Formats: sequence, C-alpha cells, structure tokens
Amino acid sequence: MRLSVIGTGYLGATHAAAMAELGHEVVGVDADPRKVEALSRGEVPFYEPGLAELIASHTASGRLTFSEDIGAVADCDVHFVCVGTPQASASPAADLSQVDAAVEALAKSMRPDTVVVGKSTVPVGTAQRLRAELREATAGQARLVWNPEFLREGFAVEDTLRPDRIVVGVDDDRDAEVVADIYRTQISQGTPFLVTDYATAELVKVAANSFLATKISFINAMSEICDATGADVTTLAHAIGLDERIGRRFLRAGIGFGGGCLPKDIRAFMARADEMGVGESLAFLREVDRLNLQQRDTAVRMAAELLDGSLTGARIAILGVAFKPDSDDVRDSPALSIAAALHLKGAEVVVHDPRAGANAQRAYPTLNYVDSADEALRDADLTMLLTEWQEYRDLDPTRTAEQVARPAVFDGRNVLDAESWRRAGWTYRGVGVR
Ligand code: UDX
Repeated sequence: MRLSVIGTGYLGATHAAAMAELGHEVVGVDADPRKVEALSRGEVPFYEPGLAELIASHTASGRLTFSEDIGAVADCDVHFVCVGTPQASASPAADLSQVDAAVEALAKSMRPDTVVVGKSTVPVGTAQRLRAELREATAGQARLVWNPEFLREGFAVEDTLRPDRIVVGVDDDRDAEVVADIYRTQISQGTPFLVTDYATAELVKVAANSFLATKISFINAMSEICDATGADVTTLAHAIGLDERIGRRFLRAGIGFGGGCLPKDIRAFMARADEMGVGESLAFLREVDRLNLQQRDTAVRMAAELLDGSLTGARIAILGVAFKPDSDDVRDSPALSIAAALHLKGAEVVVHDPRAGANAQRAYPTLNYVDSADEALRDADLTMLLTEWQEYRDLDPTRTAEQVARPAVFDGRNVLDAESWRRAGWTYRGVGVR
C-alpha cells in the first residue's frame, strides 16, 4: 500500500521505516526541512539503536522517501498521524495543536476517500471530534481510525516491528480491515489485533502508561519504607515480582520516571478526567506523580547527607542525564533535574552522559559538561550514578576510588554491587537498599 506518515519524530520516523520494512511504499512528511533533509540522507536526528540502518536501507530501496510538502500525501491510500502531543505550556493538559494542524492539512491535501490513522497519544474524545472535522472537510468521504503506539525509546524499532498488540479504534468495523491489511505480516505472526471503539483505543494507551507509572511509584514508596526500616527494596521487588500476578518488570526503585511520555501522559489523563467530571477516579495518579517527583528531592537530600550537610562548593560527578539508558532524550529527565537542583544549591556539578550531553547542555547550559566519565570523576567529592548506562555499571570501584577526591557514591538506579563498592572503600547509598 502507499502510506504517508505525518510527523517524523521518534514515533513517525520509526513508524515510517517499519512500514517500509513491512513492504509498503511510504512517504514521511515533516514541516522541518532539516529533519527531512537528514532523514532523506539516512541520518536520524536523535539516538535510537537500529533506526538509522533501517531508514538507510529503505531510502536506498526507494520504498521510503521524506518530504516537507504535504502535497506528497495526494497519492497515498492511508495517512498516519504521528505528531507530538506535549504538555501544554500553561496547564497539565496535552497540547493538541500539532494533531489539529496535521489533520486539517491532510484534509486539504489527501484524496477525500482515504483513511486517516491517528497514532499520537491524545485525550479520550479527541478521535470522535477529529472524525467529525474530517468528514465535514471531505463531504463525508474520509474515514478515521485510532491506532495507539506503545513503543519504548531505545527499543523503538523492535517494538514497532514486533508489537505486543495492535489496537484499532473505529466507528465502522470495515475500517479495521484496512488497518489489518497494513499489519498483515505481524498479525500472521500472532500479534493480537484488537478492534474497539475510539474511546477504548485512546484509553488503552493512557491506561497502560498510568499503570506503568503507578508500578514505579509504588516501588519507590516501598523504597522509603525500606530506608526507614533497614529492609532492602531490590530483594522485596524480586520476591513480590515472583508472584505472576504482580510481575518483576517496572519495579526498579530509583530516582523515578521521566521522558517524553509517562509524566505528560498521566498529567494529561488527569486533566481530561477533571474536564469530564470524573477527576476523583484518577486521584491516585496525583499521588503517583507526587511520589515520582519526591524521589528527586530525596536524591538531593541524600547528596547533602553524603557530603556531611554541605553542598556549597562540593564537586559532584553526575554520571548520566538521559531519562533512561540507550537514549539521548532529556525530556523531564529526573537525572537532569537533580543535577540542576544541586547546581542551584551551590554545588559544582560536572556532568557526563554517553549520548545525552548535547541535549542536556541545550536545556541547562549552566552546568559543566565533560566528554568522559573519567573527567567527571576526577577529584569529585561525591559520585552520583543517575542513568544506568552500561559503562557506569561496569565501573571498577577500586580504580574509580583512585580518581575521586572522596569515595562516596549515590547509586540512583540501584545497579552497582554495594558490597564490592564498600569493600573498595566507598561510602555507598542506593535508594531503599542496604
Ligand atoms: C514509555 C512506555 O514504556 C511505552 O510503552 C510508551 O509507548 C511510551 O512511554 P519510554 O518513555 O520510552 O516508554 O520509557 P520506559 O522504558 O517506559 O521508561 C520510563 C521511565 O521510567 C524511565 O525514566 C525509566 O528510567 C523509569 N523506570 C522504568 C524506572 O524508574 N523503574 C522501572 O522499573 C522502569
């Protein structure tokens, strides 16, 4: 089939490449000419393992092209909307301006009898509204399907090519057939294909992210209790996770969740529920958000404790500022927000990240960024591991002790072996671990 993909950020670029991999002819459309130019050369403007190779192979095969001209959608049968829905600047709700603009532009440029498939994460009720707008603009001919995306950064290619499930929200079951045709390969490989109404499809996405965020805040709440009682949260998570009903994943205690999805999705969900008069049902998400942000304050407090109460003038090595490893994304990164808070409290903060340094520098130019972990560690009074990149997990405690001024480490992701670090002379603090 001939497909267009509107928006070529994390979601759109990956989706476009994956659709080409499935055998479709795809044009990715983006208003940013620099993005279009880079992607056309097979270059990806962000770090996502495996994506550049996939894009390059399909720009070479000719199945994948990019354009800044929305007119390029004119000979496509199906159009995927993959633009961002960030948190609005003046409220916790989602900013839908990019989705609205994309659908409006599509309605003017596409063949009127084609299908628009929304993939962006939107507040429940959005698809119904967009459908009405689309039908009006196309004399009732265009159809709309909502098909949420569940990809994780760092695994975007894998998650798009081999998703856990495909969910499509429709107002006419026949439209599901069009989407099923696009994903035929995955469906034949056993991927569950669920057809629902619009509202359920929209909710599947935000409910899934709310559940994941709740798991993380739950285990972080347990880490506080562990700290107060001398118990160990990692063993606790392992033990409760062995119950299949609970499961071990997303129970890693630490400095909390960040990124371009979980924080803004739970806030937008709460805002939408408030609008609909059912805000009380999501009151627990306020607590999930609060607990998550509290982990950042706890990290700053622990840093002060490890420095005998005084942050002023202390040299702190920050290892990792990406919101998670294998990503250069610093959106709502707990690590970066902790680094900035320590700097504001008078510490000399020296930051290293294998990939996210440049993005962090753009967001917080006043911190001191260096090119290697060795440079960050040199003469540090405190070492803080905040993003669990493999190179930090592999640090040798004995060698590292020789580099720093004082062997004190805060392990914000509970990934270091506390015993071997202590044996090498370190004062070790994790989050809720012994
Ligand atoms: C998330 C969802 O996983 C994905 O399904 C959705 O489509 C988009 O949002 P992503 O933002 O890429 O994906 O990151 P994810 O791997 O979910 O991690 C989110 C944050 O939670 C990271 O900051 C991570 O460090 C943190 N996290 C994760 C924990 O603190 N503990 C855990 O046990 C797991």
